[in-house]
Amino acid sequence: MSTPGSLDALVNALTTEELVSLVAGTNVWETAPVERLGIPSIRVTDGPVGARGTRFDGPESINVPCSTSLAATWDPALVRRVGELLGREARAKGARVLLAPTVNLHRTPIGGRNFECMSEDPYLTAEQAVAYVEGVQSEGVACCIKHFVGNDTEFERNTIDSRIDERTLREKYLVPFEAAVTRAKVGSIMTAYNRLNGTFCADHTWLLDDVLRGEWGFDGLVMSDWFGLHSTIDGILAGCDLEMPGPPVHRGARLVAAIEAGEIDVDAVRTCARRVLEFVERWHGFEDGAPGPETTRDDPDDVALVREAGAHGAVLLQNRSDADGAAVLPLASSGLGRVAIIGPNAFHGQVLGGGSAHVNPTSISRPLDALTAFVEAAGGTVTSAPGCHIHKRLPSLSSRLRTPLRGAFFLHPDELDDPSAAPARSLENVSPHAMWNENPADPAVARHEFGARLSTTFTPDVSGPWQLSLATVGAGRLLIDGTVLIDTGDAPVGGSFFGLGTDDVVGTIDLVAGRAYEVVVELRRAGSEVAMSGLLLGGFPPVLVDLMDEAIDAAGNSDVAIVVVGTNHDWESEGWDRTSIELPGRQDELIRRVADASVRTVVVVNAGSPVAMPWIDEVDAVLVCWFPGQEMGNSLVDLLSGAVEPQGRLPVTFPLRMEDTPAFEHHPGRNGAAEYRERRLFGYSWYETVGRPTAFPFGFGLGYAEIELIGASVSSPHEVTVELANRSGRDGVEVVQVYVAAPGEVGGAAQAAPGDDEPASRLVGFARVEIPAGRSVTATVRLDANAYRSWDETAGGWRQSAGPRRLYVGRHAGDRAAELDVLVPEPEA
Ligand code: BGC
Repeated sequence: MSTPGSLDALVNALTTEELVSLVAGTNVWETAPVERLGIPSIRVTDGPVGARGTRFDGPESINVPCSTSLAATWDPALVRRVGELLGREARAKGARVLLAPTVNLHRTPIGGRNFECMSEDPYLTAEQAVAYVEGVQSEGVACCIKHFVGNDTEFERNTIDSRIDERTLREKYLVPFEAAVTRAKVGSIMTAYNRLNGTFCADHTWLLDDVLRGEWGFDGLVMSDWFGLHSTIDGILAGCDLEMPGPPVHRGARLVAAIEAGEIDVDAVRTCARRVLEFVERWHGFEDGAPGPETTRDDPDDVALVREAGAHGAVLLQNRSDADGAAVLPLASSGLGRVAIIGPNAFHGQVLGGGSAHVNPTSISRPLDALTAFVEAAGGTVTSAPGCHIHKRLPSLSSRLRTPLRGAFFLHPDELDDPSAAPARSLENVSPHAMWNENPADPAVARHEFGARLSTTFTPDVSGPWQLSLATVGAGRLLIDGTVLIDTGDAPVGGSFFGLGTDDVVGTIDLVAGRAYEVVVELRRAGSEVAMSGLLLGGFPPVLVDLMDEAIDAAGNSDVAIVVVGTNHDWESEGWDRTSIELPGRQDELIRRVADASVRTVVVVNAGSPVAMPWIDEVDAVLVCWFPGQEMGNSLVDLLSGAVEPQGRLPVTFPLRMEDTPAFEHHPGRNGAAEYRERRLFGYSWYETVGRPTAFPFGFGLGYAEIELIGASVSSPHEVTVELANRSGRDGVEVVQVYVAAPGEVGGAAQAAPGDDEPASRLVGFARVEIPAGRSVTATVRLDANAYRSWDETAGGWRQSAGPRRLYVGRHAGDRAAELDVLVPEPEA
């Protein structure tokens, strides 16, 4: 199908109702078609670690590393290739829009979606986002970059007012969006849930019209975050083109009525509808016709790319040597001896974070399986033990021990009390982690009101006190053999389903192994316009062994212990923040006791954002692998065996304590507002400027090769030349980083005055350089075109600073291996 006639003719042919239909989704993932005029829907999909498609339990997708991991590669060329992969994946799901990348900044390490965002630094985020967008869009799929702007944590995320001064916005939080618009020509942008300085982002004329379209020249589509539009008129006037999801809450009939009442001019709606049509045309909607079926690609080359990217993003933080000078990593390739593989995340391998970023991976390489195969091939033996559990909510009730969950769905919750009521719909195999975007009793009914009864026969395999759990959107009860064990009716809401569902309610009951129990869950959902409901049914067996003792025994009988610790998708997810940076459960104790018992201890941290490491001095090696995507185990083998050189560098500072972090005094905010009082002093700028110690600085990371930075010179204000020598017998990689000092630093001027938020230095350039064994390499680092600009609050515009400036060249923030002075010329008039 091609565009029928010119867009102008098409727009003029639309009735008011059709115009209104175009400015909202028709369902959760698609824009509205106008069949009479041959206008098709266009489908969108999350984003950012895969292309999930329209169902959370739908066909599988290739799962790439999370955004902190991608950022940690400091390798835009690699990120671009990952973007291309994601573009292919989106098309396999019949989608022409990937709801990604997420480019909010890490303002505090406990932000629930930090794993989905790239970095604390705007320049690194911008460079990686541009590469990501260019990669995806080269496959004919638009990116929808998100969340514009100030959605930096999950606290009261649907209403919070992020109060950010203009200079901080311009120089920090807006930078990645600006780069994606002006350089990568990103196709679409998603407004954030929050308010910005008093106004909801979806209604924000200054943000959407003045800055985005006016100053940056954006000519793509603006859509709301899901249920993030709060107005019928203001959003249209500000330029939020599309209310998502559909069917609409604020537009649709309400917008038609507002037009008829003369409250809004139909031309304003036409402007947004026209942009929707331009978008459908630009992103191949008319060629494709209706969105196609959703399929799974399992391309081995793409899976190999996930393995490579997962390995390249991992950051080696520590690698001690023994008395003979031999480093603990890489592990020997033969005669490995006895290896203990310990830790909760060795067993389940957390490949991705939670929330809308979830996809169903095509396969998962578990650390335990991949490491065991490697150790055994290298002549070693393996013992394994989880050591402790870290679940925040219980795992799903095991399908091994129960019959399929049968579902009976009724259009009215009261029908659950009527034994003669016939269900409107029955399903034979409902997931114990069920999430419905449509009414499960009848998907054609827009209103979310229903009753559900789910039943299964559960036969435990061990006797003792079992824990069962339930979390629901709506009121739920769990009955076992007819007796109520759990009632979520009065449970606090917020801990599940993006903050819409209840916390887990846990009930404990003594069960007998081999006996069959009838488990029934009832769910009553009162009417709601929010198209989301679901339930989580969990179960956890009695713990009959002391997991900690078992792990310490394994460590004591090993030559090396590999301890895989971290978080999971319950801790790092959408809808809530973490409450601390400590590893959940007894993991800190586990590491300490393993380190005490074993000869050598290697810790692998499997988390999407920073964790505290109070045991750092007691272990030999530490590797942070983030949420590395579905090839997790294989990527780890590549790194620990030395087949791949560790080359990731931290895209975020690892703090020693929460109390040291920049937003500690101001987060999460109060009375509905988050005051960004630290202004521009967050991330490394904070630690450096106020002189706080860190556990590991931004930009830090080790390799196995020994690389020396032997010289640096300035070739122009936007180019630095560096000489690096590889003093080892291994090929190596270095990430050279260039920071510009605050104005006034040249000539020995003092630090910024107390209370001033001028960062002591700021990243303005980096280059990933490969240096063959025993060789020297000269590399060029090109600096940010905006390296010397600053926002002039008085004049309300950018100022290009001219005159002498100082550059620091090194391997992380604060490393001043070389200090260079540069004379920045007056900008051309
Ligand atoms: C998230 C978005 C996501 C959307 C659709 C929202 O809850 O904030 O990032 O794209 O849901 O799943």
